[in-house]
Amino acid sequence: MTLVIAHRGSAGTHPENTMEAFIAAKEFGADGIELDVHLTLDGKIAVIHDSTVDRTTNGTGSVKDFTLSELKELKANYHYKHFFKQASRVPTLLEVFEWMAGNKLICNIELKNNEIPYEGLEEKVIALIKKFRYEKRILISSFNHYSLVYVRKLCPELETAPLYKDIIYKPWEYAKSINSSGIHPKFTAVSDTIIKATLDNGIAVRPYTVNKEREMKRLFQLNCSAIITDYPEKAVKLRGK
Ligand code: G3P
Ligand code: MG
Repeated sequence: MTLVIAHRGSAGTHPENTMEAFIAAKEFGADGIELDVHLTLDGKIAVIHDSTVDRTTNGTGSVKDFTLSELKELKANYHYKHFFKQASRVPTLLEVFEWMAGNKLICNIELKNNEIPYEGLEEKVIALIKKFRYEKRILISSFNHYSLVYVRKLCPELETAPLYKDIIYKPWEYAKSINSSGIHPKFTAVSDTIIKATLDNGIAVRPYTVNKEREMKRLFQLNCSAIITDYPEKAVKLRGK
């Protein structure tokens, strides 16, 4: 069965990368969540998409220039179109992991080290995964494929998958060449033929960001390993149990 992974939580209905969005994803029946991580000035793992706080909070500046306690003062649902009474805060990966102890969701951690080479990000993420013994519940992805190779070197038990946006030749061969067990392509970068060949070669296919019903149906019919969507509620209903 194709798994439903909630992109930045249920980002289509809730403020992205907040605990509200992750909790909603679980309530909607998603099998997992996807989230993005950066490092703060004091080396904490913050769950936020952009390298700056400008778009998603009431602050301005780079995540890397905030200490965690400064980051926690910001409202992470500030620009959200719907009304949320309480200000939600930028979560840490630790807080998300603590919440995961009460459920069985998988977690796709996207390392946002493709623009900023956060030194020690892989080591810190792996140490936390090991502390919680979540190795089997975690998928590591990144647009920085060097980082994925490094993750596998540090922790061979972890699954990794390269993110990419455009069509590539024989992605199953590429995935194997970087020691990954899956691919996370933009959904427009994988035809039916490519998906079938990749699955036939034992490589998982989890396209992003799949929000339209027509596209969801196509990927369910092809028996994709998972889809990554802003609308987990819609996807779960469409897929059936
Ligand atoms: O992991 C899939 C997707 O999150 C990759 O792109 O920009 O939404 O992090 P982005
Ligand atoms: Mg992401």
